[in-house]
Amino acid sequence: MQPSVLAKVQSAGILGVEAYGVCAEVDVTGGLPGYHLVGLGASEVKEGSVRVRSALSNCGYPMPPRKVIVNLAPADVHKDGAAFDLPIAIGLLAATGVVPPRALEETFFLGELSLDGQLRRVAGGLPVACLARKRGIRALILPRESAKEAALLGDVPVFAAQSLPEVAAHLKGETQLERVTKSDAAADGEVLPDLSEVRGLEHAKLALEIAAAGGHNLLFVGPPGCGKSMLARRLPSILPPLDEREALETSIVHSASGRFDRTELPAQRPFRAPNHDVSMAGMLGGGALPKPGEISLAHNGVLFLDELPEFKRPVLDSLREPLEDRAVTLVRLRTRIRFPASFSLIAAMNPCPCGFHGSGIRNCVCSFAAIQRYRGKISGPLLDRIDIQVHVPHVRFEELSQDRIGVSSSVVAARVLEARDRQRHRLAKTKLHCNAQLGAREVARFCQIDEKTTARFGQIADRRGLSARSVHRVLKLARSIADLAGREKLALGDVMMAVDLRVFDQEVR
Ligand SMILES: Nc1ncnc2c1ncn2[C@@H]1O[C@H](COP(=O)(O)OP(=O)(O)O)[C@@H](O)[C@H]1O
Ligand SMILES: [Mg+2]
Ligand SMILES: [Zn+2]
Repeated sequence: MQPSVLAKVQSAGILGVEAYGVCAEVDVTGGLPGYHLVGLGASEVKEGSVRVRSALSNCGYPMPPRKVIVNLAPADVHKDGAAFDLPIAIGLLAATGVVPPRALEETFFLGELSLDGQLRRVAGGLPVACLARKRGIRALILPRESAKEAALLGDVPVFAAQSLPEVAAHLKGETQLERVTKSDAAADGEVLPDLSEVRGLEHAKLALEIAAAGGHNLLFVGPPGCGKSMLARRLPSILPPLDEREALETSIVHSASGRFDRTELPAQRPFRAPNHDVSMAGMLGGGALPKPGEISLAHNGVLFLDELPEFKRPVLDSLREPLEDRAVTLVRLRTRIRFPASFSLIAAMNPCPCGFHGSGIRNCVCSFAAIQRYRGKISGPLLDRIDIQVHVPHVRFEELSQDRIGVSSSVVAARVLEARDRQRHRLAKTKLHCNAQLGAREVARFCQIDEKTTARFGQIADRRGLSARSVHRVLKLARSIADLAGREKLALGDVMMAVDLRVFDQEVR
């Protein structure tokens, strides 16, 4: 009887946006010929054994007529996907003496096999590279499409393979796999839509600038076609550029979702605009082994909810936690999985179901009750986390057809960046980054107003019946307005302008 041979191949699985080590142990022993897979695998992993066997035999490595046991360790983690096809196949080649076991050391293998032995892309190349770096792994062997994103980390050597025979030849030392390096291509030739294309709407543009400067969430209310979506899509163009840490964080989320599609780190913040029929899982993340949702794909960027009242109420309500925590936690199989979700929320809605309430261009045909119901679709607690709510008026044809160019995004972006710098210095000793995050204590400390302003603001607050919460929001906004103007002290004008940025404080809801 032939001795039993055990081969171990290192690989990795993805849980949330993080990779964890998986070891494929392949044991080829005497006994009844057969193939046994153990180590809690999802059905896809089980189906993988069929693919692995076909791929091996189609590439000229028929399975030995012996007993084969494959164990994916650790056994207590629920595994998903077909990414273990390649490590299992390589384990079989090592256990049957086709490739030298030494060649597998300190190397991570990942990839789905097709029946003819071609390698297919897997999700999570970048988080796997992060794990490989932590473990001091020498090389990462991945399908070509996954290799590109893994190489973005820069530290761990990444090799791209197109097929199983290519990997085998590499391990035998016959040929070398292509080493993929981080592309130095000037990041992003992408041109973002520019603010200068928007005619008129000076107040709405200012609101957008203040939102960008202080990290405030924003809601545009206005009739159809007035330019709400157009404005919202221009928010990324005035936000500070992504720094390298943020770019990597965001890319890790996209890589884990299996939807990373670039060869360099992004220079622009992500902009996600989910449709209003998006499900809870689509928004927050979900699935048996959860993938990131829209709020996480928008991490370090912008989440745009167009036609806000059309979204499902529970989906909107579920945004409260991530808006507070800048992350979302899902519980699956007694495991808590945390996805980062730090985004700027920008939303748009019509003032009423017909869209023309208060527009001055057409008469609104909606009943008072219908308007109340429409607005009531946005829960108070969500609205409460949207510091800025402004009306966007209809732009007259005359103004639209003028060819006077408005202020460009780059000019506004420079002002925003300065305002952010001021906040960073002021908040250096706290864990906060921007005015939107200020709590009651910080508002009391950083948003002080003089006596005259206090008296005037007090009158307005009383007349409008502002809650303590609203007062607090106004002061934070005034802080951002002053930061844009380069003033350390809040002026009366800053507070007045801030009051104007909260139209829902002035209306009966
Ligand atoms: N203020 C504006 N300046 C220039 N074009 C505008 C403006 N408002 C609307 N438009 C034009 O009308 C189209 C529809 O605007 P959109 O932003 O989709 O409106 P809304 O989201 O308010 O319904 C835009 O794509 C743009 O071509
Ligand atoms: Mg729109
Ligand atoms: Zn109406």
